[in-house]
Amino acid sequence: MQSIRLTLVGFGVVGQGFAELLSSKHALLEQKYDVDLKLVGVANARHGFIYREEDLHIPTLLELAAKQRSLTEHPGIRHWNSALEGLQATGADILVEATPTNLHNAEPALSHMLTALGKGMHVVTANKGPGALSARELFTLAQQHGVQLRMESAVMAGTPVISTIREGMAGASVTAIRGILNGTTNYILTAMASGRDYAGALADAQAKGYAETDPTADVEGYDAVAKTLILAALIFDQPLTVEQVERQGITNITREQMQAAADAGKRIKLIASLRLVARQEGEKGRPQKLEASVKPLVLPLTDPLARVDGAMNAITVQTDTLSEVTIIGPGAGRVETGQGLLADVLACVILS
Ligand SMILES: NC(=O)c1ccc[n+]([C@@H]2O[C@H](COP(=O)([O-])OP(=O)(O)OC[C@H]3O[C@@H](n4cnc5c(N)ncnc54)[C@H](OP(=O)(O)O)[C@@H]3O)[C@@H](O)[C@H]2O)c1
Repeated sequence: MQSIRLTLVGFGVVGQGFAELLSSKHALLEQKYDVDLKLVGVANARHGFIYREEDLHIPTLLELAAKQRSLTEHPGIRHWNSALEGLQATGADILVEATPTNLHNAEPALSHMLTALGKGMHVVTANKGPGALSARELFTLAQQHGVQLRMESAVMAGTPVISTIREGMAGASVTAIRGILNGTTNYILTAMASGRDYAGALADAQAKGYAETDPTADVEGYDAVAKTLILAALIFDQPLTVEQVERQGITNITREQMQAAADAGKRIKLIASLRLVARQEGEKGRPQKLEASVKPLVLPLTDPLARVDGAMNAITVQTDTLSEVTIIGPGAGRVETGQGLLADVLACVILS
C-alpha cells in the first residue's frame, strides 16, 4: 500500500470538509486505490502550522475547530507560527491549499503554493486567486519540479469541469465555453424570475447563507471573472488579465426586465463566456484570440443554461468533436468542495 503524506493549509469551511472526507473515506480509499492518505500538517491563520510525523488525528482537529479551541492543543505536535514557516521546515507529498481567495495578489496562497512546488510537492487548491492571476508561473514551476498542480474545486467546487475537459475530452479542440459559475447570483436571478425584486432576492440569499454580508464579489461578477480567468489559462492555454474580461454584474437588473424576458419565454442568467475568434489581418499573436466576458444575458429556454436554477452551476463546452456538452452540478459547499480536493489528491497519486 502506498502511503501519501498531506499538508492542509486553511482549516475553515472547505479545509474541514476535506479533512472530514479524508477521515470518513479512509477505509474505502485504502481498499479501492490501495492508498493510505495521512494528514501530517495543518495550518490556519490564528494558530499557525502544526505537524506530526506519524499523522494528525482528524476527529481531534475537527473537535478543536468546532469548539473554537486552538489546533495547537492536538497532542504530540511540532508548531510554527505561520503556514509558510511550517511548509518550509517540513515535508509532505501533497499540499492542499484552502485559504481565502484574494484577487489582488493571490496571497497568502501564492506563497504557500510556490514554496510547496519548489520543494517538489504536488499542489491541489480550491483557491481561485493563484490560478486566476499566476497560472503560468505556477504551472511552469510545477513542470520544472515534475509535480502536478490541480485546481478542480476552484471552478464549480467538486463538479468535475477542468478534469472532464482536460482529461475526459483529451484531443478535442475546445472552441467556446459558456457557464453559470456563481451560485449566489444564480440563486438571486432565479428568485427574481419568480417575481421578487433584486433587494428582496439578495436579502433571501443572505438569510439562507448563499450570499456574504458584503455580496460585491458575487453580484458584481468578480468571482465569475476569477473562474473565467482560470478556464482561460487551463483550458485554452491563454492566460488573460482581469481587465481583459468584460464584466457586468446583476445589480441593475430590474423585476420588469425579468418579467419581459419571462413573457418572451426566456430567462436572464449571469453568463461567463470564453470564445476563440479569428484575429483581424495585421493583429499580432496566435491566429485565434480569446474573447472573455461575464455579463447578464437573455437566454431562450432551449438553451440548457436557461433551465439551471437556484444555487446550481453549469457549464457548456463547445468542441470540434462533441459539438456541445453541458455539465450541471453544485458549485459550492463544505463537502462538495472537499470532494473536488479529494479527487485532485487521488489524481496526483494515481497519475504520477
Ligand atoms: N466555501 C465554498 O463553498 C468554496 C467553494 C469553492 C472554492 N472555495 C475556495 O476555497 C477557499 C477556502 O474557502 P472557505 O470557505 O473554507 O474559507 P474560510 O472558511 O474563510 O477558511 C479559510 C481558512 O484559511 C485560513 N487562513 C487564512 N489566512 C491564512 C494564512 N495566512 N495561513 C494559513 N491559513 C490561513 C483561515 O484561518 P482562520 O480559521 O484562523 O481564520 C481559515 O481556516 C477559498 O479560496 C474559497 O474561494 C470555497
